[in-house]
Amino acid sequence: METLSTEIEFAMHPDPEVRSRTPILNENTFVQTLLDGSENGDFLALDLGGTNFRVLLCTMKDGRCTSTTNFYKLPNETLSGPSAGVFDHIADSIHKFLTEKNLLGETLPLGFTFSFPMVQESLKKGILRTWTKSFSCPDGVGEDAVKMLEDALFRKGDVNVNVVAILNDATGTLLAGSYLDHRCGIGMILGTGCNAAYVERVENVKKWQPNGNSRSPQVVIDIEWGAFGDNGSLDFIKTKYDAAVDAHSNHVGSYGFEKLFAGHYVGDLGRLIMLDLVQNGVLFTPEAESVLSQWGVFKAGHISAIEKGHETIVLDEIGLTHLATEQDLAIMRQISSMLTLRTAQVVSGALAVFIRRMQWQELTVAIDGSLYRYHPKLHEKITLWLEELCPLTQVKLIDAVDGSGKGAAFAAAVAVKQQSQSA
Ligand code: GLC
Repeated sequence: METLSTEIEFAMHPDPEVRSRTPILNENTFVQTLLDGSENGDFLALDLGGTNFRVLLCTMKDGRCTSTTNFYKLPNETLSGPSAGVFDHIADSIHKFLTEKNLLGETLPLGFTFSFPMVQESLKKGILRTWTKSFSCPDGVGEDAVKMLEDALFRKGDVNVNVVAILNDATGTLLAGSYLDHRCGIGMILGTGCNAAYVERVENVKKWQPNGNSRSPQVVIDIEWGAFGDNGSLDFIKTKYDAAVDAHSNHVGSYGFEKLFAGHYVGDLGRLIMLDLVQNGVLFTPEAESVLSQWGVFKAGHISAIEKGHETIVLDEIGLTHLATEQDLAIMRQISSMLTLRTAQVVSGALAVFIRRMQWQELTVAIDGSLYRYHPKLHEKITLWLEELCPLTQVKLIDAVDGSGKGAAFAAAVAVKQQSQSA
């Protein structure tokens, strides 16, 4: 431990035990300006955070944006193969997008939403700390994601984009939120993973490095709160089901906060609880054991569906209809509602820390992510918990659809503006 001197060395250490002692992952994003309505021009955006990624073209006229989006999918094998495979696939898709839009000859600024923990050294340099979620490429950690993208674009050839900003999806959502509502001070992702970004005063940022000549008193901080509790502070709420989900995950011993409830994990938490009840003779019949022993068979979307009263559809999908009694349905409802409560409570708790710190009278939290969007109760539950936890701030939650994608284009617009301000 004595040989490790910096946070980044802790964060990238191969031993998960050492990694878990990483003090904090909060990062300066170098985004100091939100949208103010004066943005003009064409901007490209790339949004990568899961198997599906997007390329967008966003045309801004006096701050209003019209956009077109194409969706692409990474082949599964690229997720655990060399990182060049991921970036080559992306470069290929960008080439296709530009060809389709007749833009191959143009040099457009591109904002890159890269939804992984990074150490940012400037607005356009982000060193990958660790892959998370379903990515486990053997390399890439310690590398600049912009460089990895630029190298792949160079290998592809014939593509003239200028990568002007790299950002996390939470930062993108904050930017997209500021486009929708000027009181937006927090962006949150509640999807496959969970994270947030918030507006901080620069005098509070310990590792502050000024951004060119910017005199802005504020900067966006990427919290990376998925890793909260990796020092053991959240162990008291973890159950044997959490331990099993962690042990089966790609990155054992890290990102324990998001593993409590995020979309990539919560279905399996529910499945493990049901399996336990089956094995104890409380739920379904012993026949259900083989179905419920399969990782991924019960998904986050199934919990939302049960919360909407669609239990029978869920049972059909997982193949348990013939085994279910009314009492089994009631137990499934109870499990789903407990998991919803847990999600709402821990997310509200984390949000409350930042809302109280910011001390704004009115504050809008922009949220992107399927777990939030398709869940029938999370919006209301988080709103109610925040009323209780943050009585001095009027908090509003808004759905920032495609915030992480549009946010990348907005970041490119902000980057161009910051460059001209500091020139
Ligand atoms: C994971 C990533 C984080 C991202 C979040 C939401 O927590 O580490 O960077 O913002 O997922 O996609």
